Amino acid sequence: MRLISSRTNFKALWLVTFIFCGLSVTFWSRQCPEESQARAPLARGDRDYYDNDRPAAEELPGAVKAPPHHLSILTADSGQLAGNLAGGNALAGGNALAGGRHKYQPMECLINEEYSIECRRENDEVYLPFSFLEKYFEVSGHIAEYDGYDRFEWQHSYSRIYQPRGPYTPAGIFMSFENYNVEIRDRVKAISGVEGVPVSTQWGPDPYFYPIQIAQFGLSHYSKNLTEKEPRVTVYERGDGRVGTRWEVPGKLSPGKLSPGKPVQLESVTDKDCGCRVLQFSTGETLDSYLQVFSTGETVHSYSQVCNTGETVHSYIQVFSTGETKQYILHYTSGQQLISARGTSIYYGLGPRTDWSLVTRDLLCDLRKGVGLSNSKSVKKTKITIKRVSKVVLQGKGRISNITMATSSHIPQFFDAADWFVRNQDDRGGWPINVIRKLVDGMQELPPGWYSAMAQGQAMSTLTRAFLRTRDRRYLDAALRGTKPFRVPSESGGVLAVFMNKHRWYEEYPTTPSSFVLNGFIYSLIGLYDLKETAPAQEGREAAELFEEGMRSLKAMMPLYDTGAGTVYDLRHFMLGIAPNIARWDYHTTHVNLLQLLVSIDPDPALAATLRRWVGYTKGRRAKHN
Ligand SMILES: *[C@@H]1O[C@H](CO)[C@@H](O)[C@H](O)[C@H]1NC(C)=O
Ligand SMILES: *[C@@H]1O[C@H](CO)[C@@H](O)[C@H](O)[C@H]1NC(C)=O
Repeated sequence: MRLISSRTNFKALWLVTFIFCGLSVTFWSRQCPEESQARAPLARGDRDYYDNDRPAAEELPGAVKAPPHHLSILTADSGQLAGNLAGGNALAGGNALAGGRHKYQPMECLINEEYSIECRRENDEVYLPFSFLEKYFEVSGHIAEYDGYDRFEWQHSYSRIYQPRGPYTPAGIFMSFENYNVEIRDRVKAISGVEGVPVSTQWGPDPYFYPIQIAQFGLSHYSKNLTEKEPRVTVYERGDGRVGTRWEVPGKLSPGKLSPGKPVQLESVTDKDCGCRVLQFSTGETLDSYLQVFSTGETVHSYSQVCNTGETVHSYIQVFSTGETKQYILHYTSGQQLISARGTSIYYGLGPRTDWSLVTRDLLCDLRKGVGLSNSKSVKKTKITIKRVSKVVLQGKGRISNITMATSSHIPQFFDAADWFVRNQDDRGGWPINVIRKLVDGMQELPPGWYSAMAQGQAMSTLTRAFLRTRDRRYLDAALRGTKPFRVPSESGGVLAVFMNKHRWYEEYPTTPSSFVLNGFIYSLIGLYDLKETAPAQEGREAAELFEEGMRSLKAMMPLYDTGAGTVYDLRHFMLGIAPNIARWDYHTTHVNLLQLLVSIDPDPALAATLRRWVGYTKGRRAKHN
């Protein structure tokens, strides 16, 4: 009675279920989210950035023991019972969906003879609660209101497939990475001030540089630059002699009246190293000797300064958060510290910076990482935003130039990533991953220092784009050296696996025995493709051979990943004789997105047919059964 009289409950939870005959039941796999499967944004806000609020395997039907019998006794009113007993067309008369008088009655639904749930019956039709169906079949749905009424929207897959904007090219957008926001993910501890790239807590609480994440950070900014609208940029300081017109020394001297011998000094000088005019400043150590420049009211996401200090500089930026109730201070020091927070002060070390270099900071990201700072693997969620920047303050001693505020600054962030790859490649051509990685019981864990074909490939995709923008050989040379580990077997420290003594495969995780992770392999092929297309033919020959060999293996082995209703993530079931590791929807759509890209560069009809089938799985279509 209680339930039946509640109209809102009805609307939210109950749906016709007869369309179900063709669904497969899949279960959440336990693997952690990883870089390769960074989720494409869902319709709602920040959910994609913080994917740790997803159901644990334990919460899902079938994964563990059945829930206790929990049918409560419901009674329908006699009028409804009479209506139902009279039989007839379920849609005639007081159709429940039309909001008329409900004709359903409560009913026990016994699920697989294991447990019961509360269902409803209307004549010959039975209704199950959507909250149950959602978990049982791993579908998603929500009530959407538009065109003046509510309707329920059902999705077989909760993850979206992106339509590519055009055929893939090595200088173009990387897949659909313009939708990624790598730095805001909760497993990114912070953006390093010294390196300008994300620092990960993906596989452990101690922050480390994860090349895959760094490449994705770079490629997402590269792709955003090609797809977003132009940023608004305001220059605050050019270092060109207009000193004193904007900078203020509060409580001391009026602007333009700075004189030598005073604790605060400021002048425009010509710098030998850059051959340009820069601002030289020196303030005392005390709290009241500093230089400040006021900012505008516009929301700023990026801040850059060119600095060369060699001395201690402490610049800080005061920002007002949402509602202007609370003021935070983002401190950028010449120290090495990654991030710390004390009260409303958040600290980042930019390193000593004795050569001229550009520092680009995403103020909103820096604020959120500080507010959400924790000792665990994940940064705490926060929706805090910056209402306005109230001032930029310089303290200490140094030289600085070109201070700007902008609504975005993608290309400098892209180059922060590309430059990181140039600086951090080892003499075997690899970008070692300095964290222990255990994929699954039965495979040896990878000790720190392993290479990943995916990291190598994504680095190549980043470096070739940097080369195409600048024609700077350092980028291309690093990408070319990055092919070296592809010929070295996993057990000798490379990334090469061979399937059934025949098919060569580049391993995302070079485990023993091999794991044959599909998505990481395809990412590595894309990197090789970018390189072979970018490098002069002779130099790119090795990449071309590796690419073609890899494509042959992919075509031969792709059927092994096809379940008829979805895909598997790797071949652990074959290698270890255990249950298959079914790709959850966002991994499956990653497979589809990757395949889409390959189809745009390789006309093989078998690839295209596989793509069509895999897309169909996301709509509930399945391979024919016998
Ligand atoms: C993209 O990068 C170019 C070159 O750095 C820049 O001029 C342009 O404003 C950027 N556009 C966007 C949307 O970031
Ligand atoms: C500041 O910007 C100007 C104009 O873009 C440039 O010529 C100058 O080299 C920059 N200064 C430094 C120190 O990079």
